[in-house]
Amino acid sequence: MLVASLRKESINLKLAKAIELYAPQSLRFDYIRMDDMPYYNGDLEGQRPESVQRFTDSIRAADGVCCVTPEYNRSIPALLKNAIDWGSKPSADNVWHNKVLAMTGASPGGIGTAVAQQHLRQILAILGCIVMPGEAYISFKTPDMIQPDGSIADESVREFITAFGARFTELIERMS
Ligand code: FNR
Repeated sequence: MLVASLRKESINLKLAKAIELYAPQSLRFDYIRMDDMPYYNGDLEGQRPESVQRFTDSIRAADGVCCVTPEYNRSIPALLKNAIDWGSKPSADNVWHNKVLAMTGASPGGIGTAVAQQHLRQILAILGCIVMPGEAYISFKTPDMIQPDGSIADESVREFITAFGARFTELIERMS
């Protein structure tokens, strides 16, 4: 699980918890941190920081990556872009190549991170990622739409999130 917000009260963290809660039992989620890596710097390639090594090892080991991102100024947060850039280099070791990835995101606004996700798709296309088909934009209408533990009272939202997790599992199984 990659959550591209660092806020304790993040609605995207809540969304990630909901995906985990309602996903099939066969999935085990690890939350991979991205905030301990320096900005990408080619000069560090000779001796990659431990945090970068840990990040790339985690992505490499994962059967699939679920990316839950806010939208910042109609794009993805720098936190996520930096992590993607580290993972993409050196090109021969690009961890995103053939990696199954599902994306979603939440924002209080009406379009629920749609533009950020379009940017993310564009980035992942050049990296050869296997992106789950379909779209999942979450408009976080009320602050309690998803509880901190991921539980969702609204049946239609709960069904949507459950279906997202099921499709992610199906794709992982099909590609493994
Ligand atoms: C935002 N926000 C925002 N929302 C949106 O729908 N489209 C956008 O382009 C932006 N741009 C934007 C830029 C920056 C720098 C910030 C800090 C915020 C609002 C954003 O969706 C809202 O703060 C969410 O609550 C952020 O997600 P987390 O941190 O709650 O997961």
